[in-house]
Amino acid sequence: MSTTNSTAAPREAFTGQVGFILSAIGSAVGLGNIWRFPGVAYENGGGAFMVPYLVALLTAGIPILYLDYALGHRFRGGAPQAFRRVKRWLESVGWFQVMICVLIAVYYAAVVAWAASFFVYSFGLDWGDDAAAFFVGEHLQLADVGGADPWLTFDFVAAVLIPLVLVWVAVIAVLAAGVVKGVQRANVIFIPLLIVAFGVLVVRSLFLEGAVDGLNVLFTPDWGALGDPSVWIAAYGQIFFSLSVAFGIMITYASYRRRRSNMTGPGLVVAFSNSGFELLAGIGVFSALGFLASQQGVTVADLNFQGVLLAFVTFPTIVTEMPGGAFFGALFFGSLVMAGFTSLVSILQVVSAALQEKFALSRRAATIGLGLVLGTISVLGFSTTTGLILLDTVDAFVNNIGIVASAIFMCVFVIWVYRRGPELRYHLNAVSTVQVGRWWYACVGAIVPVMLIVMLVQYIITRIGEPYEGYDTTYLLFAGWGSVALLVLGAVLFTLPRWRGREDFAPWPSYPPVDAGTEQKGSVR
Ligand code: ALA
Repeated sequence: MSTTNSTAAPREAFTGQVGFILSAIGSAVGLGNIWRFPGVAYENGGGAFMVPYLVALLTAGIPILYLDYALGHRFRGGAPQAFRRVKRWLESVGWFQVMICVLIAVYYAAVVAWAASFFVYSFGLDWGDDAAAFFVGEHLQLADVGGADPWLTFDFVAAVLIPLVLVWVAVIAVLAAGVVKGVQRANVIFIPLLIVAFGVLVVRSLFLEGAVDGLNVLFTPDWGALGDPSVWIAAYGQIFFSLSVAFGIMITYASYRRRRSNMTGPGLVVAFSNSGFELLAGIGVFSALGFLASQQGVTVADLNFQGVLLAFVTFPTIVTEMPGGAFFGALFFGSLVMAGFTSLVSILQVVSAALQEKFALSRRAATIGLGLVLGTISVLGFSTTTGLILLDTVDAFVNNIGIVASAIFMCVFVIWVYRRGPELRYHLNAVSTVQVGRWWYACVGAIVPVMLIVMLVQYIITRIGEPYEGYDTTYLLFAGWGSVALLVLGAVLFTLPRWRGREDFAPWPSYPPVDAGTEQKGSVR
């Protein structure tokens, strides 16, 4: 294999364990934890959801996290580079993951921008008495889709557009500053702040009138739900998105660790911190919902809350009704901004690393280039009067089809077809304190792919039979199935050009293990 660009600067690296752990937690803890988890848990059996959730965490979340870590650290590259070093053509699986990050980034930035606006609105409780009308009417100026208005407009909304541009400028500034001075520094500042802000918020919500009723709703188990396959599907879906696994992020972050870096112990810290934060979010949100229900003289079940609406309609309503609400609102939306921003940084780092490595671009050129292109797409798609519908559709198809398919590709090609399981387990065990046992093969080689294939087939059949949210079929072909097609198209188109970046590479430690004298030489693949 030819050696090009061999004078390139050494690969950037997190300065140590703490910087890496905080960055990985920063990526995992995001919008998925704060508003997605409480709603998903509630809709899927309340307290009983904890059973499939924990099973999904242990059988799929942590094993795939280890697979990501092993690929990134052993093959020292972002997603396309790491997969290419397993087998040349698998670079396309890496680009498939990069494309998932592209599609998520363009709408995720919009939600972070809404949260930033609501942080500002909190101080004056600007949403008034009708938070729903404020969010969809005044803030988003949502078109009446399904009514007389078109499905897609380019009518821009300044209140969304300006914060969205600012979010893109900020995230590109962080990425352009590099792994240590940008990514690590942002996480070292924001994650402790987030933990304090969210901790205060949860404690405050526990003391609200009616909080216990909310907690009863969250924790009262509906054991019957465990017999429903869709509850299990929801648990696996939640774990992948929330832990940031199977779409390139943890491969990329692990590639920025030094050779002798403990991987498995920090992996457990990240996984349990993410789930701990999720549980905390559930407790905080349901206590607040219990309060709202008690104020309105209804039960929690009567409150209409879901995904985006929970954060941007239900929470503002709670803030208005509670004493000292402005402070509570600022804590909530400030937490949402910090959690979302650090996740957005990690999503875009996947794209930046891939472009730098394949096209031998400087960090600055790659980040500014991707910022201009993706920032423009994000503004065109999500700061218009039809942005919310597009966001909802792309999110559903990319998460439920794209990420699940990506996890299947990883397990099938890396473990089944190219049989790299023993080598990757050997690598993890050689660098880590907590040893990975043979159970890991059972998870990534059998449980995860089989579960996910069943899940994916079932989901696709449902989506073909019932148009998502009852949206127009032509629109779904364009925005939903079109997004999935874009993932495949991007994977093919980015794989085709010649690899211009560095190609010389010696995995360490060598596998199969050799005696200590020749250990360091490794083999050049
Ligand atoms: N893991 C990130 C989240 O939960 C993407 O939002």
